[in-house]
Amino acid sequence: MLADLRIPVVVAPMAGGASTPELVTAVGAAGGFGFLAAGYLSAEAVAGHLAKTRELGPHPFGVNLFVPGPESAADLRGYAASLRAEADRYAVALGDPRWEDDDYAAKLDLVVRERVPVVSFTFGCPEPAVVRRLRDNGIQVVVTVTTPAEARIAVDAGADVLCVQGADAGAHRGLFVDDGSPAGGPSYGLLTALRLVLEAVDVPVIATGGLMHGADIAAVLTAGAVAAQLGTAFLRCPEAGTAAVHREALAGDRPTEFTRAFTGRPARGLVNRFLVEHSADAPSAYPQLHHLTKPLRAAANRAGDPEATSLWAGQAYSLCRDLPAAELLARLDGEARDAVSRARRRWP
Ligand SMILES: Cc1cc2nc3c(=O)[nH]c(=O)nc-3n(C[C@H](O)[C@H](O)[C@H](O)COP(=O)(O)O)c2cc1C
Repeated sequence: MLADLRIPVVVAPMAGGASTPELVTAVGAAGGFGFLAAGYLSAEAVAGHLAKTRELGPHPFGVNLFVPGPESAADLRGYAASLRAEADRYAVALGDPRWEDDDYAAKLDLVVRERVPVVSFTFGCPEPAVVRRLRDNGIQVVVTVTTPAEARIAVDAGADVLCVQGADAGAHRGLFVDDGSPAGGPSYGLLTALRLVLEAVDVPVIATGGLMHGADIAAVLTAGAVAAQLGTAFLRCPEAGTAAVHREALAGDRPTEFTRAFTGRPARGLVNRFLVEHSADAPSAYPQLHHLTKPLRAAANRAGDPEATSLWAGQAYSLCRDLPAAELLARLDGEARDAVSRARRRWP
């Protein structure tokens, strides 16, 4: 399905509120393909989003799941102590830094029961038995990878399609294992990651990371991808559920950096005070840090304060366009066609 879209543009799953049934439907209706983000939600809440999306239109869409990782053995007391002043500042109690599996089994049951046409995974590779179960139920399985080694593991597990994520991408890296370095592992830019993965495996791939313009889409398609997945580019669409402070910050000029400070997993976001003050101390412990900092982030969002909430953004975020999703998709389509024609003229 993903290999023959009318417009080969996939709108990324964006957990935390940005992905909405309205965004997914607008993109599907305009000839692209949208993903609902199941991460952080209960299976019941995801079922609600699924029902709403089906109510809004007949267009195919996908659901994205977080693969649970092992519980980190890191001692979190030092990090929690270092956040006490933040808790006082925002007049909240820190959250309970618990490990949990994001309701994984119930969400798998849900996507099978609901026959969602495409299911994508990030943060790891699903077990071969999970992939087999989905495929046996007619579901196309996509696994997010960042290196050729991860690509081989995903293909061995039975993935139909890979989503190759470059280090230019906004938000969490799809790394299977976080090695504790600032980027959490090898940080190939998208074109490098794409070439290395295409040489390593023989399945269709979707390219993602830093793509903002139609010419970028043409570039990854000519490099061998079957579609381009864009996240940040759609964050300022009116259909997206992007928080107001985040939406506003995307119109600014902060640099982006990797950080574990908010969630315990490396993610690219706009540099703000919290990121600067806490990135160096943050242990690799997802989702414990996500729960620990959740009340702080919520309070900062409520206060309209961009300095203590995660402002996920890809490296090219400054090119975000404030347009309805269908219009943005139409512009991307036109730009990609122009770029291909220009390249053909240059190299007939
Ligand atoms: C706000 C935000 C939330 C994201 N949440 C998810 C997610 O839930 N699941 C996922 O697989 N990828 C998620 N991503 C990453 C995207 O799938 C994709 O890799 C990334 O957006 C590509 O880079 P770009 O943002 O520069 O387009 C998220 C990205 C953003 C910006």
